[in-house]
Amino acid sequence: PCVAVLFGGISSEHSISLITARGVLRAIDRTKWDVVTVGIARTGEWFLYSQDELEALLEANQITELPVGDQRVSLPLGQQETALLVRQGTAQTTEVSRFRHVDVVMPLLHGPYGEDGTLQGFLELAHVPYVGCGVTASAVGMDKHFMKMAFESAGLEVGPYVVLRDRLWRSDPEGAMDTVAPLGGPVFVKPARAGSSFGITRVEDPTDREALRAAIEEARRFDLKVVVEAGIVGREIECAVLEGRGTDAPRTSLPGEIQVVDQNNFYDFEAKYVSQGSAQLSCPADVPEHVIAQIRERAAQAFDAIEGEGLCRADFFVTPDERVMINEVNTMPGFTPISMYPRMWAESGLEYSRLIDELITLALE
Ligand code: DAL
Ligand code: MG
Repeated sequence: PCVAVLFGGISSEHSISLITARGVLRAIDRTKWDVVTVGIARTGEWFLYSQDELEALLEANQITELPVGDQRVSLPLGQQETALLVRQGTAQTTEVSRFRHVDVVMPLLHGPYGEDGTLQGFLELAHVPYVGCGVTASAVGMDKHFMKMAFESAGLEVGPYVVLRDRLWRSDPEGAMDTVAPLGGPVFVKPARAGSSFGITRVEDPTDREALRAAIEEARRFDLKVVVEAGIVGREIECAVLEGRGTDAPRTSLPGEIQVVDQNNFYDFEAKYVSQGSAQLSCPADVPEHVIAQIRERAAQAFDAIEGEGLCRADFFVTPDERVMINEVNTMPGFTPISMYPRMWAESGLEYSRLIDELITLALE
């Protein structure tokens, strides 16, 4: 079958998506899958890029962007069979050169317009199967506010938080900040819909209005809806979830732990992707057996709470008194060499290439 691997995209996580895609393209089993590689430039335009082009680009600079390509790709809707339309040349008016049949799309995109249900809706309209969560699960999984509501209604323990909507912030910023104070300190101020820690600030003391205001303004550069979370004293533990085959329950990996030794004191963009060594990832996490069991159970519940399909990574805090609190899920977690999702599966006996087979097979099921 032909798999169209999609990467890049217009979100702030464009460059992370390229590293994810490189990881997947290196591991995907070419004897099983015929692969076509499609990059979405920052402009939103789709182009064919070869794996070699992607490798060369990342070789030159890890945090980078796709250049404008010369083979434009589009996914026409309402075709008998799903096919990518490939046109040669950079001008919009170039001749149709060929159609390329596609059986399944692997949207390796992080953040808004890739991981948030918008692209998934487009793929639904094109009647093409795709890897991962559907429209609703993607949208809920992208939104730190709705995701928490889904978790709470599924009975999962969630840390204290407040939501600062755009209208409230613009009409009454002082009142908005009053709602944050009861959370105590520190707090994490986050754009509701972003990823890779973009726009997140840790504020030690939320009664410090200037610091809080600056953090909220920073988050609002990424999303006009802001979520403020109380800092949880606990260990940061993640668990990978893979949908079950047929009617089987979701499968969960051994959990992994993130220990941050960075001066910003949280698992921020720098610690994630830039200064290697400022975060230590260990898998399996060194926690008691009964806590591991609880994490795995809750990870599966979180996946079901958002009506997940395909995969997600569930991120938890485990407090010193062994409470397991869910922080968030990511419906298209990173697949970079340092990313936890493939690593946790490898530690659990599902090697990277087989994991990819499994994800594509689930999409085709
Ligand atoms: N949003 C990034 C890619 C992650 O969750 O791994
Ligand atoms: Mg996280």
